Amino acid sequence: MMNNKIIIKRLIKPFNKILEIEGDKSLSIRWALLASQAIGKSKSINILRSEDVLSTLSCLKKLGVKIKLSKDKCEINGLGLNGFKYKKNIVLNAGNSGTLGRLIMGLLVHAKNKIKIIGDQSLSKRDFFRVTKPLEKFGAKFKTNSGKLPITIEGTTKPKPIKYTEDKGSAQCKTAVMLAALNTSGETIIKAKKSRNHSELLFKYLGLPIKIKKKNSFDVIRITGKKKYKALNYKIPTDISSSAFFLVLTILSNNSKLKVKNVNINPSRTGIIKILRLMGAKIYLRNIKKYKGEKIADIYVESIKSLKAIKCPTYLNSSAIDEFLVIFLVAAKAKGISYFRDLSELNQKESPRLKWGVKILKMMGVKTISNNDSIKIFGNPDLVVNKTITIKNYLKDHRVFMTSVVAALTFGGNWKIYDKNSIRTSFPSFLKNIEELKR
Ligand code: S3P
Repeated sequence: MMNNKIIIKRLIKPFNKILEIEGDKSLSIRWALLASQAIGKSKSINILRSEDVLSTLSCLKKLGVKIKLSKDKCEINGLGLNGFKYKKNIVLNAGNSGTLGRLIMGLLVHAKNKIKIIGDQSLSKRDFFRVTKPLEKFGAKFKTNSGKLPITIEGTTKPKPIKYTEDKGSAQCKTAVMLAALNTSGETIIKAKKSRNHSELLFKYLGLPIKIKKKNSFDVIRITGKKKYKALNYKIPTDISSSAFFLVLTILSNNSKLKVKNVNINPSRTGIIKILRLMGAKIYLRNIKKYKGEKIADIYVESIKSLKAIKCPTYLNSSAIDEFLVIFLVAAKAKGISYFRDLSELNQKESPRLKWGVKILKMMGVKTISNNDSIKIFGNPDLVVNKTITIKNYLKDHRVFMTSVVAALTFGGNWKIYDKNSIRTSFPSFLKNIEELKR
């Protein structure tokens, strides 16, 4: 499409602003899925209105859930556990969303009719064996295209509890199994490598029978199924993954300051803050509050000239998994060689992101040494880009687009960045927020 490209030729001017950024994607999708299984009407305020969340709502509608989305809120009439209405030949389109595609399968292990799940070009390249394999153990049957979409799921009348080890640090795999466990009589036991824990917090808040034993690198989660639960009202906080683009933009800009309000700072998501602080960034959290098990704060950040390279501790990987592309930009400007490893999961995202990180840095003139799961970045505090850089054919990965915009506004050069509509997936107001900084 002709107009679906942006051109950036100038650095962003110094700014001192306060931003309100859109709601958290993981929480928006989880709220909607859990509300669909509750008894009664759930309401949410500030649900993210991005394509991934809208796809979630339209999949739920196809399963008979009544949903009202108005300007200021979303209401979902829960059908109760496994209350979905299974018409014949239902096709659910998960669009670009791995979270939706994988999580909803957990709710469908009990489906009465076959259901087909499809997705867009990017999602159709991604691995689903990681969820179909454990979900098969509940008794559901899957027909996949070598582990990829389209996938047909045939539920079982009597899902049985399972034991499962999640070893990738994937919250999507963990949550798919947790949702399936809701439909079983008996106890499902999950040994899960640490990953974002929104689902566990929501289960607890809903009074579902969940027990969690926290160990150093993994959690043991026990869930007993068949417990009915009441509707859930929720005010979705700001997404730290969306905020991350603005934190890095501020750090890499000249003489700028930013406050982002009301951000979810759940410790399983704040790897970005920990990593940026280790690199010397000035980030402060103020007005810290608890909300239904989550932690919320305003984040303050400032530009900084002297950034340090990092040997990134791998225990932070999962809590920063969606932020590595922008973290790589910080490493490009840091003094010394930064090293990030154990990151093969990055190539399993909406695009092969580790590869895209290497490509973007290379175009910017930054030396890297990389393989399938690690990257060394040779930083240069004086890095200035002064050539033409074109970013295209990246499977419309929203985070590749937004990272490229941040690079263009902070390192210079003449950037042509295609597929700007990709931001609709997770952060439709991204470019509006950028404009707000220029005003
Ligand atoms: C998500 C988990 C992560 C993350 C994705 C959202 C979630 O994926 O990359 O953007 O909401 O559970 P994995 O579970 O595959 O690591």
